[in-house]
Amino acid sequence: MRTITWDEQKAVVKLIDQSVLPMKFQFVELTTHDDVYHAIKNMVVRGAPAIGVAAIYGMALAAREYKGQDLNALKASLAAAGKYLNLARPTAVNLEWGIQRTMKMVDEFEGSADQLKQKILDLANQAADEDVATNMSISRFGAELIADGDAIVHHCNTGALATVDYGTALGVIRMAHEQGKRVHVYVDETRPRLQGARLTAWELEQYGISYDIITDSSSGYLLRSGKVDKVFFGADRVAVNGDVVNKIGSYMLALAAYDNAVPAYSVFPLSTVDFNCPSGENIPIEERPQAEVLNLQFNGENVMPEGASARNFAFDVTPHRLISGLITEHGVLYPPFCRNLSLLKPKGV
Ligand code: MRU
Repeated sequence: MRTITWDEQKAVVKLIDQSVLPMKFQFVELTTHDDVYHAIKNMVVRGAPAIGVAAIYGMALAAREYKGQDLNALKASLAAAGKYLNLARPTAVNLEWGIQRTMKMVDEFEGSADQLKQKILDLANQAADEDVATNMSISRFGAELIADGDAIVHHCNTGALATVDYGTALGVIRMAHEQGKRVHVYVDETRPRLQGARLTAWELEQYGISYDIITDSSSGYLLRSGKVDKVFFGADRVAVNGDVVNKIGSYMLALAAYDNAVPAYSVFPLSTVDFNCPSGENIPIEERPQAEVLNLQFNGENVMPEGASARNFAFDVTPHRLISGLITEHGVLYPPFCRNLSLLKPKGV
């Protein structure tokens, strides 16, 4: 199941529409970089690694939207498209990573406008393939931490849907299952967008992995009652000191895990590390529309009083002291994260 593909015949980017799953399994076709911007903003595509690859496809579409042959004019319109796409969502650094990766190639490119258009599309396809290989590697390293019979709390959706394929934190669980280990997953429903209840549960159904959906506030009770062996979640941006910004609720989950001496792991590719960011406090936290919180219905009726107001923080910061290990495609990192992450810093960043 690939979340993002390029359809060469139609010259469109095809995405699994995550805003309607699991009620409907359908694809959307994107023809312009503006389509990609809105797909990211409205969470038709979501999850940090998927957003990063979608951004590069957005740049490929932006290049094709320029119909002239002037290389400098094409480069200028790509710079503008990159700035625009970068505004779609502020927190997951993979968006910026995808655009910067493309713009580095654009800036260094010499040749014809048509050649550059093709090169950006090739880069998008390459980044998509790399993402899958990276996730397989992450999952192999992570699966070594899972023992037969483990009960695991998982937050948000970090599976195939949140990446190009296979997933990160959910990929680790999936790999352990494929290796024959018996695992049971407690799926945080993940209010308000319900990525856990809708998307993670849907994926676990496909893989035949045992699970129960729990309300977000249940994990503290479960952890305290000794029913959980490990906690796994993803990351949207990791600071160089190992602080992890991830889906709202990750911090409270990590706190409860720490208080009960249950190991909590954050799982992500190196493209999610912001090597320019010293700590989690400097990371922008997206605040989404109130309606996502207020539109809750019970028995077919609106739950909240008319005129109610809400705050809808999409992410939070988990301080590195609460995290037992960071799982990347290069292996599992243990404290001191600052030193161990800096050893993985790519050249030129
Ligand atoms: O708002 P979302 O659904 O894009 O948030 C996603 C998460 O927080 C994931 O945990 C994170 O992106 C890692 S996905 C491999």
